[in-house]
Amino acid sequence: MTVQSLTSAPRFRCWIPPGVYRPQTDTRLLGRAMRRERITSRTEVLDLGTGSGVLAVEAARMGARVTAVDISWQALAAAWCNALVNGQTVRVRHGDLTSAVQGRRFDLVVTNPPYVPAPGDIPPRGRARAWDAGTDGRLLIDRICSAAPAVLRPTTGILLMVHSQVSGVGETLARLRAAGLRAQVVDRARLPFGRVLRSRLAWLRERGLVADRTTEELVVIRAVQP
Ligand SMILES: C[S@@+](CC[C@H](N)C(=O)[O-])C[C@H]1O[C@@H](n2cnc3c(N)ncnc32)[C@H](O)[C@@H]1O
Repeated sequence: MTVQSLTSAPRFRCWIPPGVYRPQTDTRLLGRAMRRERITSRTEVLDLGTGSGVLAVEAARMGARVTAVDISWQALAAAWCNALVNGQTVRVRHGDLTSAVQGRRFDLVVTNPPYVPAPGDIPPRGRARAWDAGTDGRLLIDRICSAAPAVLRPTTGILLMVHSQVSGVGETLARLRAAGLRAQVVDRARLPFGRVLRSRLAWLRERGLVADRTTEELVVIRAVQP
């Protein structure tokens, strides 16, 4: 069991059991974008793929009413505990992306989906389910682009999604726009390849996904329901 301070928020305590995604630069980048949004006690937030629940708890601390979804029971247990130890209320729901909140609409949807290209198109089991996302890294991203309009509040709902440029930023913008949303990149950060990308560098280069680079850019995409 690990309990540590993870965000800029004071005295934030986070328990991350084995098998649950440890918040990283992508989490922090998405958190920074979320803090720029106007969040009040009436804001309904959906954290899609909540992992440890760090962003869900942060949104709750900002006053929002938060629902956190994950396909991993361990992640949901962590998110529930982390809300509790930080004195926040987060509704946790088990399920496959938005199927867990069918019929509901949200003011703000935040998501840090699995986005790392991986050999094989079958959704993995175990720890890798938090990052592996098919041969182009878009298994979950494409589904979120299609599903977003149905879970966003009409005319005001906002989607914030973080992913790597390795999995295709232009494609995400095009899909969100094709789904009827106004989408743009609102934040970015460049960082050295992490352990997972380094471990499959030859395969990524063979597929032309990373050329000769040893760094990746993470982007936050903001899409609005017009
Ligand atoms: C990259 S982690 C992000 C965790 C956390 N939001 C963060 O930023 O630190 C992706 C999360 O998505 C979850 N996930 C993967 N496939 C999913 C699916 N089909 N439906 C819901 N959650 C899923 C994983 O279990 C994992 O917790």
